[in-house]
Amino acid sequence: MFSHKQTIIEQFTRQAIPFTQINGHYDAIDLLIQMAAPAATDEMLDVACGPGIVACSFARHCAHVTGLDVTPAMIAQAQKNQTDQEIANITWQIGTCLPLPFANDAFSLVLTRYSFHHFLNPAEVLAEMIRVCRPGGKILIADIALPPEKSQAFDAMEVIRDPSHVHALTTVEFARLISEAGLEYCHRTHYAVDIELEAQIKASFPLPGNAERLRAMITADIGIDRFGLGVERRNGQIRYTVPIEVYTGTKQFAEKNKRNLNKDDKQMLGRTELPGKGPLFPWPSNLDLLNHSDWAKNYFAFALLIQSHFARQSTLWDRI
Ligand SMILES: C[S@@+](CC[C@H](N)C(=O)[O-])C[C@H]1O[C@@H](n2cnc3c(N)ncnc32)[C@H](O)[C@@H]1O
Repeated sequence: MFSHKQTIIEQFTRQAIPFTQINGHYDAIDLLIQMAAPAATDEMLDVACGPGIVACSFARHCAHVTGLDVTPAMIAQAQKNQTDQEIANITWQIGTCLPLPFANDAFSLVLTRYSFHHFLNPAEVLAEMIRVCRPGGKILIADIALPPEKSQAFDAMEVIRDPSHVHALTTVEFARLISEAGLEYCHRTHYAVDIELEAQIKASFPLPGNAERLRAMITADIGIDRFGLGVERRNGQIRYTVPIEVYTGTKQFAEKNKRNLNKDDKQMLGRTELPGKGPLFPWPSNLDLLNHSDWAKNYFAFALLIQSHFARQSTLWDRI
């Protein structure tokens, strides 16, 4: 019986090269860069970096990037991508997320893409990401998120395609995870990745016989949408869109430090306000988004009022 870690390594050793050949995996990186707003001084960590697609793109905007992944074949592919793109400021490391093999406050930007659905303990990984991020630094998570009513069917299908899949957070679970993490200045946005079924099957390594099962399951979902992927037939191909949520937040300064911020700290905090987009309102860490209490409604109504007063909102950002 394989441990979960062994299943991950086994799957992603096979996927290391095909993963880089899925066009959709290059989508929306500009959006992630806009959300993270990296500074030229940033020391960034990409958790579960895979073949380094995100790390290589961010390296052009940061002082240094560290990419960490548990699958040696993924790290080998990441090194190749770095060499091909002639990027100097990246270091790769083989390792797991629990715990992250880094000191407290080691990075100013800590992100991860398309990894949370592989984790047995997403909240613990997020806590680790926050631990290694310095106060005033930014956290970004991008991953699949489905409406709660689609979640069970999606997980059952996805684990057939990729046996290392654990659970795609629902949109509600994702929001709660972030709201309970104690981050400030939180933002959310979302995008969708367009996938062609046969290309995806080619890049996947289901157990013997399961490719046919998967093809039948997805094709049968046209017009039904049990999986929340909007499967359709287009130009003779079966295509679907995977919904992705992106959250960012800033690690708080300890309360006692807030009163004594030095100039550098203030500059770093200032970076969490999007250039030209007006100030952001803080998101109380103990706010239960599911609890539509009057207090919460009033809080958001007030915050939106203040926000619109500044009248510099971007249509891109979905503020919550
Ligand atoms: C779907 S790939 C995403 C790769 C990359 N983040 C990207 O978006 O292009 C998921 C990656 O997570 C890695 N991974 C999964 N669980 C991990 C863990 N516990 N620690 C470190 N890496 C992990 C896998 O090895 C794989 O490379």
